[in-house]
Amino acid sequence: MAEHLSQSELDYPFKLLEYFNGFRISKVIFSACEQGVFDLLLQSQKPLSAAEVARELGTSEDGMERLLDALVGVEVLEVELTQGTAYYSSTDVANLYLAKNSAKSLYDMIIYQSQTIYPLWNNLGDAVREGKNQNEKTFGLSSEDIFSAIYRSEEEMLKFMGLMNSSWVIDGHDVVNAFDLSRFKSIVDVGGCSGALARELAKAYPASTLTVLDLPEVIQTAQKHFSQSDDTIKFLEGDFFKEDLPAADLYVLARIIHDWKEEKSLMLLRKIHAACNSGGGVLLVEAMLLENHRGPIMAQLFSLNMLVQTEGKEQPPSHYTRLLTAAGFTDVGVCRTGKSYDTILALK
Ligand SMILES: C[S@@+](CC[C@H](N)C(=O)[O-])C[C@H]1O[C@@H](n2cnc3c(N)ncnc32)[C@H](O)[C@@H]1O
Repeated sequence: MAEHLSQSELDYPFKLLEYFNGFRISKVIFSACEQGVFDLLLQSQKPLSAAEVARELGTSEDGMERLLDALVGVEVLEVELTQGTAYYSSTDVANLYLAKNSAKSLYDMIIYQSQTIYPLWNNLGDAVREGKNQNEKTFGLSSEDIFSAIYRSEEEMLKFMGLMNSSWVIDGHDVVNAFDLSRFKSIVDVGGCSGALARELAKAYPASTLTVLDLPEVIQTAQKHFSQSDDTIKFLEGDFFKEDLPAADLYVLARIIHDWKEEKSLMLLRKIHAACNSGGGVLLVEAMLLENHRGPIMAQLFSLNMLVQTEGKEQPPSHYTRLLTAAGFTDVGVCRTGKSYDTILALK
């Protein structure tokens, strides 16, 4: 693959140029989402000109026309020319994923990427040089307590929880069905945030009870802003480092281990092993690297994201297997979903 890329790039570096411009494409989508372009086009019964979009959204016509054209260029929007005027409409993909209130909206993910991740990545070079997160340089916050930085205001907490929530809109089904978990009758989603993954688990395993454990302020925010009228999941306030964990058949750790240094991860896994009912287990959900360092690119980029924002990193399955075994778990099974997040199930 790498050989193929370098050979074809020798004539003209198409791919490299696309990579250099990657940040511009991200910004085009972020700006369009923030300005409400996709919502307006979804609501509109007919294609709109740049002048109409600009008028509705209170922007310059010239700026909006260039933004809309770039969105056509990346095939997120469609355009038709009528008597010399360009009329823009959304694609099905934009309607499904980019409009704020659509069924599979990734709007919250985009807002977090735009407003929090993008500024952090501006200091990626320093993160690589120093080998530590850039919360202090980017936001003037201590780099030690990563969740105090992430939850620095109610607004930021809501944005982060929105980001976590939207991942499971697209990945939840594959993750909860990667293994048959029906034998686990009590499941605790440790650090379960808004409860989105627990809801997917409850849907897939209606005979199991689902409890979301997270920090008190996160649980309160989850109940206030993310609860659903038909919720069957329970919420539990607690600190998984400082307090005892409830007994359960299965503990789900989704995107938890990747946040922390190895000693803390191991401490948490040992605690889970001690609390786990016999015959129970633990399900890790992470974006897992390949053992040979060749990808997946998404996990490699997530790992750099962990560098700029946390104290952890993404890892290959062998790393998680080693930690789980050290914590006392056995029968470790790995399931790659082929999408962003993979799973590992281990038993007590
Ligand atoms: C990266 S998020 C993952 C959230 C969720 N598992 C998911 O994948 O959508 C990490 C979660 O761990 C929670 N967390 C961090 N430190 C914690 C602690 N000491 N005790 C309980 N939860 C904690 C955070 O509030 C956050 O919800």
